[in-house]
Amino acid sequence: MNCRILSSLYIRANGEIVCDCDAGKGISLGKVFSTDEWSISDIFDNEKYQHIRKSFSMGIPPWKDICINCGLFNSGELFVDNLKNKQIKNIQIETSLKCNLSCGGCRLGINQRPLPHLMNLKIYERLLKSCVESGFKVENIEFCGNGEPLSHPNFSEFVRLAHSIIPEAKQTLVTNGNWDYNKSLKDQYLDVIYVSCDGLYQSSYEKYRVNGSVSQALKFMADVKSSKKPKLPIVIWKYILFDYNDSDEELISAQKKAVEIAVDKLMFVFTHTPHESKRYNIENSQEIPLVSPIVSNFSMEKLTRITQVGKPLNSNDSRNIESSNEISRKTYCVIDDVHISDNNFITIQGWAMEKEGQSIKSISIYCDDQFIGKASFGLREDVLRAYPELKNDTSGFILNHKLSKPLNSPTKIILQLMTNEGITENFSVKYLFG
Ligand SMILES: C[S@@+](CC[C@H](N)C(=O)[O-])C[C@H]1O[C@@H](n2cnc3c(N)ncnc32)[C@H](O)[C@@H]1O
Repeated sequence: MNCRILSSLYIRANGEIVCDCDAGKGISLGKVFSTDEWSISDIFDNEKYQHIRKSFSMGIPPWKDICINCGLFNSGELFVDNLKNKQIKNIQIETSLKCNLSCGGCRLGINQRPLPHLMNLKIYERLLKSCVESGFKVENIEFCGNGEPLSHPNFSEFVRLAHSIIPEAKQTLVTNGNWDYNKSLKDQYLDVIYVSCDGLYQSSYEKYRVNGSVSQALKFMADVKSSKKPKLPIVIWKYILFDYNDSDEELISAQKKAVEIAVDKLMFVFTHTPHESKRYNIENSQEIPLVSPIVSNFSMEKLTRITQVGKPLNSNDSRNIESSNEISRKTYCVIDDVHISDNNFITIQGWAMEKEGQSIKSISIYCDDQFIGKASFGLREDVLRAYPELKNDTSGFILNHKLSKPLNSPTKIILQLMTNEGITENFSVKYLFG
């Protein structure tokens, strides 16, 4: 049993630290203050955090009725306390509760939240400095919450401070894109920008993104990718599938537009909120008409809570997979994660590429010799960072598939890789589930 609360921090605009951004967002775990004495270590040792640790180590959900309704609660995952190992995977910062749009998801109730609605830069600075003083390694700082991060008048200062206090942390922004990119960022650089743009046509887009302009959101993405800055962020167009923006025509035209404005990824998102798409969902995601390889899918966590994590039978390291052709191997292939979620979906993900760095043509996946499906490809900047000489940042692969019956334990998972020259290589590894 696990969730990400002992790997991450979620800070609201008023400095309150809450139990992440889903069902637990009403539970306060502490507050950040700007005084020099304030320390993140004191927060992580407080009664609430001790209660979370104790509960998980006993296999009990920390907040019984809340955790079972939380999309981030994974009953089948092993308990890991990353904070004890001085690692914070993500600090999520709600720079501003204000917004220029009025979307259904945020509209209800946010203005009743306690003031201030703009985060004070002093408490943010204290938070980052305290993480460093207490010896935490921070992997990512994500500007996202309720409201709109770029509506903070000093947004670029948040980015600058993070670069100066924790330069090694990646910085990610989630925005509605109804802004001028250059004015918002000034001379600052972000690593990844998600732009929430749910539709290609104004008439469908504005049904959820009330007061928004789709052409402005598209221009924002195009401006990021055509900027003259020395390093360009990865841009991910996040497109939630509703029943008013899911026609095949609009989905295909959106893909063409994404290629035209040079975004790195177009992510179709399955939601469970009102007006969710009835045509496409997690169960028939492979039927979405595709005209571009930059498309990927993502499901809201509530639809994919992990119930079982696969463990390699012979090794703790799933990199140690057997190739059918070890000596003259033409490809690399690594499985990072195999898990099964609530609704009997298996997810298999990792990365693969040809030995000289070219992308693999296709990956067919089998479980105990039963064909499960073909993986889709996506971004893996971490692989590019580890092997820069191979010059490939799109070696990621993922397959989500609904199982018709439970898997055996162990199950032999076979990945059949096809190179661009038509050579086939098989990789297999046995996984235990339970
Ligand atoms: C609440 S928004 C706030 C940040 C920013 N203003 C924006 O629009 O992206 C944060 C995230 O929630 C996601 N979101 C909003 N409404 C949603 C819905 N009905 N279903 C799934 N995700 C949703 C957005 O795509 C975005 O990634």
